This record gives sequence, C-alpha cells and structure tokens, in this order.
Amino acid sequence: MLTFALSKGRLADKIFDMLRKLKLCDIKVDDDDRRLVIESGDYRFFLAKPSDVPTFVESGVADLGVVGRDTLLEEMRDLTKLLDLGFGKCKMCVCGLVSDKDKYKYKTNLRVATKYPHIAKEYFDSINQNTTIIKLNGSVELGPIVGLSDCIVDIVESGRTLKENGLEVKEVICELSARLVCNNASLKTKYNEISNVVEGFKKLVKE
Ligand code: PRP
Repeated sequence: MLTFALSKGRLADKIFDMLRKLKLCDIKVDDDDRRLVIESGDYRFFLAKPSDVPTFVESGVADLGVVGRDTLLEEMRDLTKLLDLGFGKCKMCVCGLVSDKDKYKYKTNLRVATKYPHIAKEYFDSINQNTTIIKLNGSVELGPIVGLSDCIVDIVESGRTLKENGLEVKEVICELSARLVCNNASLKTKYNEISNVVEGFKKLVKE
C-alpha cells in the first residue's frame, strides 16, 4: 500500500482531480468532507494542513506528498522532490502599500510581516537588508495597513487580495507551484510502485 499526505485547502480540488484521472482514488471529496484518512484500493490518503505535509513525508508515515513549493522552501525537510505538478501556480513576493512607493528599500531595520519567516529572512539576508521578521498566521496584508510592518512577504496568485487592500508587488522572490515529494527510504523500498505513480503524474502534467 502507498500512502500519500495531501494538502487540504486551495490545492485539494486539483489534487483529487488528478488522482481520479490516474485511477488512484475513486472517492469524491468535497469541501464539506471532514475525513482525515481516506482509503481507496491500494492507496491511503492523509488530508493534512499544507505546512504539515513535509513532516508526514519526512517521517515516513506517508510515502508521498503533494504540497506547494512555498511550504517546501519554508520547512526545509529532508525529502526527495520528484515532480513539478504544474498547478497551483503563484509567486512569492515582497508586497507593500502602493502609497509607500519604494520606501521599504531604504529602511535600516525593515519590519516584515509573513507566514514564511524563513523564506523572508533568507531573501533579505541575500540582499543585505536588516529586518525584523514578524510571524503572522494569515491575513498578512493587514501588516502594512495597520502599521504593524513596513511590508509583507506572501504568496500572490490572482493579485486580488493586494488590489482590494491598496497593496502591490514590490519584488518577486520566486515562482511557486504544487510539487510531488517522496520519503527518502520509501523511494528505495517501494521503487516500482512509486515509479508507476510518478509516470502517471508525468503524463497528466504533459497533457
Ligand atoms: C493567500 C495569501 C494571500 C492570498 C493571495 O491567503 O496569503 O493573502 O491568498 O491570493 P490572491 O492573489 O489570489 O488574492 P489565503 O487565502 O491562503 O488565506 P490567509 O490569508 O488566511 O492565509
């Protein structure tokens, strides 16, 4: 049996679409579903908070995981990255108030609100800018609006949240999308099963 840790939330619909097409999971899972473990044929699926998917895969309780690159960069777990699944495309960006123009560039101690403290620190360290990183768990855009921070580091997908709140992208840090990842030991012990799954995903991604 192969076990997957899947991200709940914005990636979930597309993940289950792919699993159905690959005939790995024939169970319909909708937004109202409260099940955390789903079994279908030879496969078992954990539905986890996205930031916890790498933990399940690194520990080996899940052989495979589907998770955003943002989470992989932030969590830095020891696992094998197998495939860019080509959906959930968005960008990791430095964003700030439109009215602030590029003031943030010249702050000596920049206050940065983010759900991604590691990514934010690494980015500002790389351009030698001193920062105080303020960890938030959601609605990060509030930071500059209410004066908690000078800017934010966050994912931007459609750009709607920024636009509707008077913010804009100042810098793009990197491109993001959903990734298929694997436990290092499982890749050796279940090589054939995992290879079959990866080949299936590869064909779907090319379509
Ligand atoms: C994410 C992200 C932005 C928004 C970007 O938040 O943190 O706030 O989506 O998407 P957009 O560019 O399409 O508007 P999420 O919806 O996950 O909620 P959260 O702010 O509570 O984390």
